Amino acid sequence: MNVLGIETSCDETGIAIYHGGRGLLAHRVHSQITLHAGYGGVVPELASRDHIRKTLPLISAVLGESGLTGSDIDGVAYTSGPGLVGALLVGAAIGRSLAWAWQVPAIAVHHMEGHLLAPLLEGEAPTFPFIALLVSGGHTQLVAVEHIGHYRLLGESLDDAAGEAFDKTAKLMGLAYPGGPALAKLAEQGDPQRFQFPRPMTDRPGLDFSFSGLKTFALNTLHSGLQQEQDAEGVARLKADIARAFEDAVVDTLVIKCRRAVRQTGNKNLILAGGVSANRRLRERIRKVMEEEGGRAWYPRPELCTDNGAMIAYAGWQRLQAGQSETMQFGARPRWPMEELPAL
Ligand code: KG4
Ligand code: ZN
Repeated sequence: MNVLGIETSCDETGIAIYHGGRGLLAHRVHSQITLHAGYGGVVPELASRDHIRKTLPLISAVLGESGLTGSDIDGVAYTSGPGLVGALLVGAAIGRSLAWAWQVPAIAVHHMEGHLLAPLLEGEAPTFPFIALLVSGGHTQLVAVEHIGHYRLLGESLDDAAGEAFDKTAKLMGLAYPGGPALAKLAEQGDPQRFQFPRPMTDRPGLDFSFSGLKTFALNTLHSGLQQEQDAEGVARLKADIARAFEDAVVDTLVIKCRRAVRQTGNKNLILAGGVSANRRLRERIRKVMEEEGGRAWYPRPELCTDNGAMIAYAGWQRLQAGQSETMQFGARPRWPMEELPAL
């Protein structure tokens, strides 16, 4: 079964084709970074318009790369939510229309389920059940995954998501959008000893997170540091040291909660997914901690951590081959709790 996957929930147009036996046949991502950079963040209307421009040409490109035509496609999967409503509607309208024209089933995919299943696209993949740490620009969640569609939320962020905290902190330090990867890069040059940031909510029981205080901590540290620095070199060092302290605090907090979730559930398989799981230090620390716990960490290659069509094609394939599909009704679900998904 060849499934076309369409991802347009935010600022990346991701298109892919997944085949049940042969795996991922082609995947392409068009990033809107340059479009939004001048505004310091995603402008929803510009995002929607760009998805309109890019989706069909990218579909032609992945079909060509796979050596397929529309008549070889057996199902269409599109991201229906959560995300920006206008952006989602582009993928939903194009995906549903193509499925109708090709007379194949369509399936509305939950963006976070896509992220959660992305590690299963890799050669070496975990088996169910496992724990998932989902860390993206909009979500930070620890989920107990029994099987596809059997999700139990163990904990989540009460305010900013981990990626959002990265992006906001990067912005206040004067780094260009999208800030997360830029902040992580700057942290590479930082001194881990100079500043000690708090590890929010780790001193109390539970698996929830709170990251918004860290950005304020970073801002205060920056302001007081700037009063002491005399030259450009000192300011550059100050920013790198803050970036390092911030990254260490986020990574440490995530790692502490993952260890707690593993001990609480007794499940020693942990998958890491979502944009922030591309973070090198987070990947390394989670891998080590899971080894210490006698278990194992799994994560996709970095290009499948951030938004892409491959994870949508794969999640859609899983549900289509189990017999699920959409009616002719379609729509965007900007807010869509993952627990509402039907079990497989
Ligand atoms: O999953 P994703 O591509 O989009 C959403 O579903 O939100 O995640 C994007 C988020 C952004 O906040 C971005 O700054 C963050 O992931 N991110 C990173 C890194 N790469 C992407 N954060 C920290 N370190 C990175 N290397
Ligand atoms: Zn995402």
